[in-house]
Amino acid sequence: MLDIKRTHMCGMLTKENIEETVALSGWVQKRRNLGGLIFADLRDRSGIVQIVFNEDVSKEAFERADELGSEYVISVVGKVFIRQSINSKMPTGEIEVFAEKLEILNESETPPIYIKDNDDVSDNLRLKYRYLDLRKPSMQKNLITRHKTAMMVRDFLSSEGFIEVETPVLTKPTPEGARDYLVPSRVNKGKFYALPQSPQLFKQLLMVSGMEKYFQIVKCYRDEDLRADRQPEFTQIDCEMSFVDIPDVLAINERMISKIFKEMINVEIDLPLKQITFKEAMERYGSDKPDTRFGFELIDLSDVVKDCGFQVFSSSVSEGNSVRAINIKGYADKISKKGIKKFEELVKTYGAKGLAWIKVTEEGISSPITKFFTEEELAKILETTDAKDNDMIFIVADVNQVVFDALGHLRVQVAKKLAVIDKSVFNALWVTEFPLLEYNEEEERYVARHHPFTAPMDEDLHMLETAPEKARAKAYDLVINGYEIAGGSIRIHTADLQQRLFNALGFSNEEAWDKFGFLLNAFKYGTPPHGGIAYGFDRLVMLLTGEENIRQVIAFPKNQNAACPLTNAPAVAEEKQLEELGVCLIQK
Ligand code: AMO
Ligand code: AMP
Repeated sequence: MLDIKRTHMCGMLTKENIEETVALSGWVQKRRNLGGLIFADLRDRSGIVQIVFNEDVSKEAFERADELGSEYVISVVGKVFIRQSINSKMPTGEIEVFAEKLEILNESETPPIYIKDNDDVSDNLRLKYRYLDLRKPSMQKNLITRHKTAMMVRDFLSSEGFIEVETPVLTKPTPEGARDYLVPSRVNKGKFYALPQSPQLFKQLLMVSGMEKYFQIVKCYRDEDLRADRQPEFTQIDCEMSFVDIPDVLAINERMISKIFKEMINVEIDLPLKQITFKEAMERYGSDKPDTRFGFELIDLSDVVKDCGFQVFSSSVSEGNSVRAINIKGYADKISKKGIKKFEELVKTYGAKGLAWIKVTEEGISSPITKFFTEEELAKILETTDAKDNDMIFIVADVNQVVFDALGHLRVQVAKKLAVIDKSVFNALWVTEFPLLEYNEEEERYVARHHPFTAPMDEDLHMLETAPEKARAKAYDLVINGYEIAGGSIRIHTADLQQRLFNALGFSNEEAWDKFGFLLNAFKYGTPPHGGIAYGFDRLVMLLTGEENIRQVIAFPKNQNAACPLTNAPAVAEEKQLEELGVCLIQK
């Protein structure tokens, strides 16, 4: 039995509560002993309030308060008073509670990490003691935002007629293109389940089942290299709808996203969202997930330099590649030689062979490449890039993909370095008309860029057999501030088109049936036209909380090595377990 039953939350107390006797419970943030008075900051999920132990109010509570250490769990009963010295930094800074009764519910050893935001400890230590890390106000706020967003999504989609249906976790590989996590079967020795990379096949089956509008907030598993916005297990808001075309899917998602931003962080997202084709996104931003909060757009110089004296540029164009530039307008004086070196190293990580630059200042032009150009050629480059005083031009010549990758990443890095990005702005847009296929050098065949059930655009259907690499897909991504927040497509729903696509992918009939036979079979029995989308839910919460690492919005995430320092997963399995599973480890 608890002696003291909580009546109020610490962070909710205000001047309105003055003279009231309240009962509070929580953790001791810190304690200070000032001789006749002991102060303790008491923290619960709602916030912190100052408790005062005064010998004259309660000798017993005062004496016990001297034992209190950080993170002790206590309850107090006391009266709320106006605070002598107001602390404007604290939401409850106008009041304090004079304790009449103290109950120590549990002691705490000295915690290995401080329970305070922005504490400089290693990520692994934070993850090892995640239950303490999650006591930090910012982490609690992030998880609360996550919860509220999930509630809003469920409410919104339910009100639009969507039904949440769970799909299996132990299943067959799904075609999202990452490596699978496999689970050995004990009952069927030598066979494996794959954890789903997404519920893609099941949600399409649910359309065959006549569910019409499905959604699920669901864990997905992908064994891929981790990044700041990638986890091996992450959460999707997964949706699928029947009898729809692209505009129907986009419209409902636009309404949902604008509602979430408005209600969660009071940000207006103007509807309808801008749409940009994949081609335009690459040509202007060098990326299929462009951050449009700033300029520095790509400029094609291929025509201008095709006959110039700088071999690197002219031969690039004659080989059918391209030469493109970005103009860092008005920041030349903020970019040092050392800075340029760093940027050159960066573009090289994306395959560029070098980074040419032209700095325009009041004193004139400085650049390692101007010597290769005639005056006219240089003037034309400056004109095409709109180079004015204090502009910095960066140029890359290479195959298109390298140029886009290099300049696309450079553009973002430079903007971050120069702090030109307004963090209060949220630019949401759709990227459309993705290529249907892309060539995979390793497999020496075309692979689906999204997945093999994505429908080609009607006007490109004829290319499937003649120029498959040119065909565009009925696929769309929702991009916000440079993050791919969601992606989806209208699906193929007829057997003959599906067959043509499998042929384009170089699958034999047999292979296709072996992999996806259950879906192809289902498609024989009256499949409605359908399409859908899936959000990276964690990424969405990252944007809503302003976090730059996905781990900040997941309660128990994995570290860079896909391991969990808290539980020590993954761990070695016992010999007996392996035997039961019929699994034998290869010693390397
Ligand atoms: P896709 O593979 O584009 O599409 O995934 C949808 C969204 O999920 C998020 N995402 C991730 N988030 C965190 N960590 C990861 N490792 C990770 N991988 C993906 C991204 C992405 O936009 N079945 C299709 C959807 C469909 O066609 O309806 C699919 O899974 O935000
Ligand atoms: P070099 O004459 O090889 O020293 O090159 C002169 C400048 O051109 C250097 O600043 C290089 O970084 C740059 N450069 C070299 N190759 C490329 C390329 N493919 N694209 C853009 N710049 C390049």
